[in-house]
Amino acid sequence: MNPTRRCAPELLKQDLSGKIYIITGANSGVGLGTARQLVEQGAHVVLACRRVSAGEEAAQTLATLSGTTEVIALDLGSLSSVRAFAEAFLERHSRLDALVNNAGLMNTPQGKTQDGFETQFGVNHLGHFLLTELLLEVLKSSAPSRVICVASAYHVEAQGKPGRIVLDDLNFERRPYDGWEAYAQAKLANVLHAQELARRLEGSGVSAFSVHPGWVRTNLISSTMPSWLQNVVMRPIGALIDLISVEDGAQTTLHCLLDPQVPETSGAFYAQTGSFPDKQDRKGGWPMTSPNPQVRDLALAEALYVRSRDLVGLT
Ligand SMILES: NC(=O)c1ccc[n+]([C@@H]2O[C@H](COP(=O)([O-])OP(=O)(O)OC[C@H]3O[C@@H](n4cnc5c(N)ncnc54)[C@H](OP(=O)(O)O)[C@@H]3O)[C@@H](O)[C@H]2O)c1
Repeated sequence: MNPTRRCAPELLKQDLSGKIYIITGANSGVGLGTARQLVEQGAHVVLACRRVSAGEEAAQTLATLSGTTEVIALDLGSLSSVRAFAEAFLERHSRLDALVNNAGLMNTPQGKTQDGFETQFGVNHLGHFLLTELLLEVLKSSAPSRVICVASAYHVEAQGKPGRIVLDDLNFERRPYDGWEAYAQAKLANVLHAQELARRLEGSGVSAFSVHPGWVRTNLISSTMPSWLQNVVMRPIGALIDLISVEDGAQTTLHCLLDPQVPETSGAFYAQTGSFPDKQDRKGGWPMTSPNPQVRDLALAEALYVRSRDLVGLT
């Protein structure tokens, strides 16, 4: 079993008062684990949640820590909700130290977002893409600042389905839908997004990274396995298949947010231990070279960026 990577203890004690972070999907799992650590260190964290009530419940669990939180509604499956979130945030705040594009869905049944995009591509990539574009100015004016795109080891291959961007069929309209293939495509889009963003933002003081958080015990599997079956199957075998805690699952994101050397590697992929297809990659790396050759296709990263701007109505 590969040892879990941990953010340096001194970085997790640093005083973050005065810093403002946005974390999408912060009401559960890795997002909540990341929020908890930042609030513990005195930061103000905006919990961007599609279910405000779940966000408020999560905020309650952080209320005794030294920092502060605020819940703002964000449904990444609706571009108008993304715009409303950005407006609400910018009305209240004039700085942003980091945006953590963390929310995600995995292996969902075929479906569409409110704007007609394939669900996983729409929520995991396009919603976050628009959010990032709308917050770029405040990130630049708050520099040094960071954008973290929480991707996955599954951007290489998900349950035997290769991670690939099919530019002329991003929404699975001309190929048979497969929930794992759609997840792999969306997570590869997260990796390419961070990489192309870093290239475009070179010299601006805003750095961008993609992250594999590890195999973490969270609700992400809920579209694949109902919760009663998770309790019967996943909990007992969790330790055997290397599932890590939410606290450990937050470490890679926290390292990318807090480590002073990380901006020198802007655009890179940071991975906790994980089930990469090749055994030697399973120890992860901070940073690591993605085993997916499409990640080295800079023209593809640029084309996806341009297409994404077009799809979210920014051209
Ligand atoms: N867990 C793992 O082993 C693992 C491995 C690799 C990568 N990841 C990545 O880690 C990230 C966090 O996942 P997790 O494991 O912590 O799972 P999780 O506990 O299910 O958290 C996912 C979060 O995303 C939110 N979300 C889903 N759809 C949304 C939408 N349309 N708009 C806004 N928020 C939405 C969920 O909100 P609701 O509570 O309302 O559903 C939830 O807060 C994801 O990007 C995932 O792909 C996880």
